[in-house]
Amino acid sequence: MSAETFLAEYWQKKPLLIKAAFPDFKTPLCVDEIAGMACEEGIESRLILERDGDTKWQLNHGPFDQSIFAELPQSHWTLLIQEVHKYVPELAQLLESFRFIPNWRIDDIMVSYSPVDGSVGPHVDQYDVFLLQGLGRKRWQISTAEVCDGDLISGIDLQILSHFEAEQNWELEEGDMLYLPPGVIHHGVALGESLTYSVGFRAPAEFDLMTSFIDYLAEESLAVKHYRDPDLSLQQHPGEISAASLQRVREIINSMPVNDDDLACWFGQVVTESKSGDRVESNSKALSVDAFVERFQQGETLFRCELSRFACIAQDSATLLFVAGTLTTLSSKMKAAVYLLCDQRMHLATEWAALLETPDNVALLCRLYNEGHLYFDND
Ligand code: SIN
Ligand code: CO
Repeated sequence: MSAETFLAEYWQKKPLLIKAAFPDFKTPLCVDEIAGMACEEGIESRLILERDGDTKWQLNHGPFDQSIFAELPQSHWTLLIQEVHKYVPELAQLLESFRFIPNWRIDDIMVSYSPVDGSVGPHVDQYDVFLLQGLGRKRWQISTAEVCDGDLISGIDLQILSHFEAEQNWELEEGDMLYLPPGVIHHGVALGESLTYSVGFRAPAEFDLMTSFIDYLAEESLAVKHYRDPDLSLQQHPGEISAASLQRVREIINSMPVNDDDLACWFGQVVTESKSGDRVESNSKALSVDAFVERFQQGETLFRCELSRFACIAQDSATLLFVAGTLTTLSSKMKAAVYLLCDQRMHLATEWAALLETPDNVALLCRLYNEGHLYFDND
């Protein structure tokens, strides 16, 4: 299926099972590595016990002590690790297969490990997800029915449905992938030892976008006008907030100053902002521009540090580059270099050959390298 067909017929619309989406897929992570990550401070991990906790469907947050793995039951639990693409370069590269969706919409890759019958329970997510079976088999049941609050199991920390009627049933094998738009009920149960990679997307809440934009206007001192009422008329009750005042307030809200430049600068910055704790460190071995180019041209591969998000906006008069929430306004002549930088996670000097003839492009790459947003595979 072409990417165009997928976008037109399935994206945000209906589920799609893609058999052998990644033929011969070999999981880059093994179970021991996943257990190791669950014990690390700074990595978000969760353990869901369907039966053997204090309540049914008990949720525990990591980091965990190594000793818990020896005590876990034989079945009916799932270990989830968030953002594994940040720690495993092969998984960051897997995201290249999802280039048909803009980078800024991609959130993370999560991995789930379950022994036989392990599950996180039937639930819905507010985000699109591609569920790639990485090891073993999993049975997925889905339903497009509406979910009501009363359908959720009460008294637990998870939003799990007490019942649902499956409309479709699939058994996914290694390399198979299931796409689900937001709001589709899904229930995956491991048919043996199983690893699933979830490529998850981000869709900011509209309310959060509005408050964030208003905060930006306030911080940039762009919202400076004050309420005015030169046509104030005498009112019978001074204690009353009049309909005319409310109307004026409505007009202020409706006329929020949204100009194209502010919108672009604010949005690029918020969607590339790093999560707290994800700041990259400046390279302790900073390179001169010449030394940098020499290493690049000698064949070293340059990678994006996955703690830093990259995005750009090409305008007629300038190219806006956003890296980890910071805007750099560049000349429109640098558009091709900035596109390449933001489109790809991995860079070879051969693809940059013509672009490296422009000193500004080289200086940009070298600066981002020295700031820690890019690294060479040999670093
Ligand atoms: C799983 O991997 O079993 C859970 C992923 C999900 O439901 O989003
Ligand atoms: Co889900």
